[in-house]
Amino acid sequence: MNTVVCVSVVCHVASTHHQHTTNSRRQTTTATAHFPHSASTAHHRHAPSTEPREADSTMSSANLDRIHPSRITVLLMEKISQDAVKTFEAEGYTVKQAVKYGEDDLIEAMKGVHIIGVRSKTKLTSRVLEAADKLVAVGCFCIGTDQTDLKLAATKGIPVFNAPYANTRSVSELVIANIITLARQASDRNKEMHAGEWNKRSVGCYEVRGKTLGVVGYGHVGSQLSVLAEAMGMRVIFYDIEPKLCLGNASQVPTMEELLEVSDFVSLHVPADESTKNLMNAERIAQMKAGSYLINYARGSVVDIEAAAAALRSGHLAGAAFDVFPSEPAGHTKDWAVCLQGCPNTILTPHIGGSTEEAQASIGREVASKLIAYINHGSTLSAVNVPEVNVTRKLQPGQSRVLSFHINTPGVLRDINRILSIANISSQQLETSERIGYLVVDLEADHIEQVKSELEALDSNVRCRILFRGKGYVGPEP
Ligand SMILES: NC(=O)c1ccc[n+]([C@@H]2O[C@H](COP(=O)([O-])OP(=O)(O)OC[C@H]3O[C@@H](n4cnc5c(N)ncnc54)[C@H](O)[C@@H]3O)[C@@H](O)[C@H]2O)c1
Repeated sequence: MNTVVCVSVVCHVASTHHQHTTNSRRQTTTATAHFPHSASTAHHRHAPSTEPREADSTMSSANLDRIHPSRITVLLMEKISQDAVKTFEAEGYTVKQAVKYGEDDLIEAMKGVHIIGVRSKTKLTSRVLEAADKLVAVGCFCIGTDQTDLKLAATKGIPVFNAPYANTRSVSELVIANIITLARQASDRNKEMHAGEWNKRSVGCYEVRGKTLGVVGYGHVGSQLSVLAEAMGMRVIFYDIEPKLCLGNASQVPTMEELLEVSDFVSLHVPADESTKNLMNAERIAQMKAGSYLINYARGSVVDIEAAAAALRSGHLAGAAFDVFPSEPAGHTKDWAVCLQGCPNTILTPHIGGSTEEAQASIGREVASKLIAYINHGSTLSAVNVPEVNVTRKLQPGQSRVLSFHINTPGVLRDINRILSIANISSQQLETSERIGYLVVDLEADHIEQVKSELEALDSNVRCRILFRGKGYVGPEP
């Protein structure tokens, strides 16, 4: 947001055609055409706006948008990709970096920080979040978000963003590598060679061309894998609980049993939830074709690994690849044990499916762009803990944008709209979750400070921010 304080026209709310106010799950009313916001373009920018913002002496999070971008402070922990650093710096934000802090040091380091970026090891506990005096948003530069107290962050009006799909390609590529390695028993030959054994053989070794790959879970990874596997001449079938668009020549089968009975390779790409716990149990493994291969790059809870180990030792399965396990160590260790160790033609990897330089860079850009879209425009699209409002509307010269997180109680919109009714509303977007509502309102008003202070005085108020754009403002598009 390139910003100057605005002055604008005041009209009574009744005079606008554009406002609809119901306490519905979704409410979107806009007066102008949509435009692409900076989430997708942030990293292409090279210089922050030269347009001065009105400096604010208090720099509280609520009036973050009245300060110069260079005074927006980002703390990035745990060697987050330099792509993230560059994306924030292109926006003009000030980036600090640190590798590791204990809880007390983190609390100290977060003073004055508006955005914190973490990976899996920095725990954003209730103590840390309660003590963060200026925190506006959290970026989890990874897939998981369990390092952050999401509920508390939501009740403080702090959106949390992550990048759940940025490593999809990396996972799919490694699964392809595993399919070929299993088919050729190359992992066992490699072990033998390291032990000094030369065991040239072709018995039980196959090409993958013409073989059937059964994908369980045709989401981001499963569908990407399907495309790559077909490029190698494999036939792809998949099972998913949702009807899915089949890519290439892949086809969806109606039951998992059907998939298990005909697949040479079964590759699992479902989420970890109650429906997928031990999805591949002894009974399902027995339904797999004799001499087929099982691959789990999803989550450890999805396979009964004792049953899988038994099927590998008996020869029912010709091989397997596991990247995820029911119990995984928190960090590097040299004495890890699992029942699959020593099973024939079994590839074990330490949850590295998504671990590539490209995936880290992609995560860095994606999460940084989401944070910038929130800071600059109020967009919470793909936030994991607060209602998602996809703000794409360009704030017009002379308008201001009110961003209101509030407790979702009956009557709250009546109170908010009473306050907003002094202004001419151009657009309103509302999303609610069970507890929290998030309302984005563009209004033409020179009573904006009054609106803000009255909103903040409501019992239901969680957090209120205002984005300013001065009348006569001429600067880069948002
Ligand atoms: N090994 C790694 O490093 C790594 C990296 C990324 C993702 N993953 C894991 O891979 C899995 C897939 O990730 P994604 O990004 O493709 O997820 P996704 O949400 O895009 O796709 C999951 C698919 O599974 C389907 N599904 C859900 N329950 C099902 C069930 N009971 N039976 C059949 N289908 C079901 C869904 O409809 C969806 O199409 C997840 O468990 C994820 O955590 C692992």
